[in-house]
Formats: sequence, C-alpha cells, structure tokens
Amino acid sequence: MIEPRLDNRPCGGKYGDIVQAIGHTPLVELKRLSPKPGVRIYAKLESYNPTGSVKDRVARSMIEDAEAQGAISPGQTILEPTSGNTGISLAMICSRKGYPLKVVMPDNVTQERTQLLHMYGAEIVYSPGAQGSNGAVAMALEMAEADSSYYMPYQYGNEANPLAHYNGTALEILEELDEVAAFVGGLGTGGTLMGNARRLKEEDPDTKIVAAEPLQGELVQGLRSLDDGYIPPIIDLSLLDRKIFVSNADAVVWTRRLLEEEGLFTGVSAGAIASIAVRVASELDEGNVVFIVPDDGWKYLSSGVYTKPLDELDLDSASFW
Ligand SMILES: Cc1ncc(COP(=O)(O)O)c(C=O)c1O
Repeated sequence: MIEPRLDNRPCGGKYGDIVQAIGHTPLVELKRLSPKPGVRIYAKLESYNPTGSVKDRVARSMIEDAEAQGAISPGQTILEPTSGNTGISLAMICSRKGYPLKVVMPDNVTQERTQLLHMYGAEIVYSPGAQGSNGAVAMALEMAEADSSYYMPYQYGNEANPLAHYNGTALEILEELDEVAAFVGGLGTGGTLMGNARRLKEEDPDTKIVAAEPLQGELVQGLRSLDDGYIPPIIDLSLLDRKIFVSNADAVVWTRRLLEEEGLFTGVSAGAIASIAVRVASELDEGNVVFIVPDDGWKYLSSGVYTKPLDELDLDSASFW
C-alpha cells in the first residue's frame, strides 16, 4: 500500500501545552519575489507562533532559563521594557506559569498591542512615545533599580534571547535547506541576528548575515537604528556582514507587496526586511536567501498600513507606529 505523503512534517508536532508549541514555524518560498531562477527566497514565518510573533521563542527561553537558574519562582513579578511583542509573549507565558507581569512600553504603539497585553493579564506602564524603545528601556531600568523585588529578564542583555534562535530558528532553517547564502533579519534587540548568525556560520562560514536597519529617526515598529546611540549588550557587530538602511515608506510598500504578490499578512518590519532580502538576492547569481517575518499583520490594522493611500500615511511621525 502506498503511504499518503506527509507534506507538513511532522504536522506541526504534538505538544502538552501551548508554551511547548512555540517554534517549528513554516519556511515558505516566495517565487514571485525572486529576481532570477538560480536564487530562491524563503520567508521564515515567525508570525505562526502562538501569540503571532518571533518573541514567543525569546520569552520562553528567558523565563525557562531564569527558572533553571533558580532566579525566579511562581508568584514573583516580572518587569520588562518592550515595544510590544516581547510583552505579549511574556504575558502569555507568565500567565501560564503563574508570574505577574509589568511591561514598560512607548505610549504610541498601536491599540491592538495594549488590548492583547490586557487580555493576557499584564500591567502596562507607559514611557514617552517620542523616545521610542530607548525611553522604555531607561524607565524600566530605573524601576528595577528602585525596587529589587522585580525580576527583569532584559532581552537586550540576556544571552537566552540569541540562544532561542541558536537552538531553535537556525536549526529549523538548517533542517530544511542544505545551503544558506544569506540570512536577513531586522535589528531590534539583535537576538534574531546574533543567534542565527552564530549557528548558520558554524554550518557555513560563508553565509552572509544582513541586518535591515531603520533610517536614523524613523521608527519601524520593533526595529532600531544603532546610530541612535544604544547598542544592546548581546550584539556582536563582527557577526554582521552588512547593515542596510530601509525607510518607513519602503517598509510599508513592501509590507503591501508581501500581501499582494505572495499572500503573506505581516507586520511592517517584515516589509522592511523583505525589501533588503530582495536586494541581497538580486546581487547573487545563485543560492538561498532566508529572511525573517517577525510578526503578523493583525496588530497593525488600526494604523491604516494596509488600507490608507500611501500619501495619507504620516510616515515621518513616530506616533504613526
Ligand atoms: C516586529 C518586530 N520586528 C523585528 C524585531 C527585531 O528582532 P530582535 O529583537 O531579535 O532583533 C522585533 C523585536 O522586538 C519586533 O517586535
């Protein structure tokens, strides 16, 4: 008898609870975006994680690492600065594991993020929106210094952040592809780029690691410009082969192209990253280019990014995001 073919190996897996179901995300080829036949572009859909973003991996890694070290036990309050996704992931995981959560976040992020955090039971402390994620980091550090009962995972300086990618995202990519010519990710905390860079370069030192970086002063949600003055401690710049700037306008145009041409409903940073992935692909003669889709589009709908004419979007305003 011929066995029916299992196309989706291994059916996404079977897990004891939702926290264990994090990861194992699809890698999808985007044929229409490929500039030439010998170059294949793949999107790693981190939007398929339980709360819709790559940060589920990081939040689980940081909480389980702290538990393993005996640094936290249920009932202890967790405090974290985040532009949204890490907070949402922590909120889901902390609610499952019994930790109260406080997140510090810029006051101009979209209302869907606030709603999701409240739905998962987190408390929100707002920092000035114009200061972006740097303002949230500064406020959370002050709060942690003033009250030692908080445990702050601090994704910007916690090695469990890149390790989630080293032991997860990168391994999953290598399971599916024999060769990775270039890996393109966004630069937020740097966790995605650092963890994938280390593991992919161990496999093949010639794999190029490319960071999509927002133009200084432009705030693509989730991404940061290193020129803004703060380099997260987990970032080792020597692992980045290239940093390529992307404007807010290009990020929005490419977010729409992902939907229109490939059917991917993503957040805006995925558009920024895709624009750089296609540029890198056009410079190659052959090989696989993998880029990260950090989150899905639901949290961005109220910003009008999918619906408003481009000239009606206030692309220069931080509060747009
Ligand atoms: C939407 C989005 N894109 C990209 C990133 C960047 O990822 P990383 O923090 O691993 O550099 C983040 C991180 O917060 C994010 O929320």
